[in-house]
Amino acid sequence: MDLNQRTYLLVTGASRGIGQEVAQQLSRQINAAASIVVLLGRSESQLLATKENILSDRPELAVHTYSLELATAQAADFARILDETLAGQNLKELQRAIVIHNAGTLGDSSKHARDLGDTALLEQYYHINLFSTLALNREFMRVFAEVPKLIVNLSTLAALKPFPSMAYYCTVKASREMYFRVLAVEEPADKTLVLNYAPGVIDTQMTLQLQHESHDANVTATYKKQRDTQTMLKAEQTAQKLIDVLRAQKFQSGDHVDYWD
Ligand SMILES: NC(=O)c1ccc[n+]([C@@H]2O[C@H](COP(=O)([O-])OP(=O)(O)OC[C@H]3O[C@@H](n4cnc5c(N)ncnc54)[C@H](OP(=O)(O)O)[C@@H]3O)[C@@H](O)[C@H]2O)c1
Repeated sequence: MDLNQRTYLLVTGASRGIGQEVAQQLSRQINAAASIVVLLGRSESQLLATKENILSDRPELAVHTYSLELATAQAADFARILDETLAGQNLKELQRAIVIHNAGTLGDSSKHARDLGDTALLEQYYHINLFSTLALNREFMRVFAEVPKLIVNLSTLAALKPFPSMAYYCTVKASREMYFRVLAVEEPADKTLVLNYAPGVIDTQMTLQLQHESHDANVTATYKKQRDTQTMLKAEQTAQKLIDVLRAQKFQSGDHVDYWD
């Protein structure tokens, strides 16, 4: 895939970690003179830092930031962001629209699967990690109906395989991946190309949280060892690998591709 195109690029969770790095690295690949980059997250100051990093490399890019709480976000919020960031833009001039569904939370890893059941907490967790993803994706599909689309879901091995202390995370990631697999079998790949990308274990706040909060001693020890021995991957490495995977484009729409594949 040629990434150097007139692109609309939207990244959720662009304020830190993998999302920040993917936003920065992809922004270096797209056509700077005629592309639009949209960064979503809660922390306005960290979103502005991502924006600054992007503009220091590619000052011609149009970069927008939106602070949005995904626990309560509705389809109308995403529709407004898409409308505002596309104001005055002729969609016919865009060669590709990319959405990186990256934002995500771990959930309460101090709980066993048997303890889950507070529906208010489950609804909040699923709203952040699944419902808001679907709402954004629907609006993205609607607005860019006539533009070739690339949809990347940040997945994980935990979407395929159970891990102790990760009942929240495994269930939501499995649901999210299955949604994108269904989307991929329904939509022609030349119009809507879908990738479920599992980034590997990355040194971010999420893995630090798991290391400190998991009720499972093996999980804690595994993550601690990888961090202490500096064998945990960095966000830069996985963002680069994602770009390599996209460039080579050997995957079929809807495939699950892991950093280690
Ligand atoms: N790290 C890993 O080893 C690993 C492995 C496999 C898959 N992944 C997946 O990769 C993605 C990124 O993970 P990461 O490790 O980079 O996580 P992270 O460092 O915790 O970053 C999460 C991002 O999501 C945003 N976010 C969290 N809660 C939000 C909310 N309620 N509303 C809006 N935005 C919210 C955060 O921004 P704000 O705090 O500014 O809102 C932040 O930008 C996730 O989907 C994760 O499941 C990570």
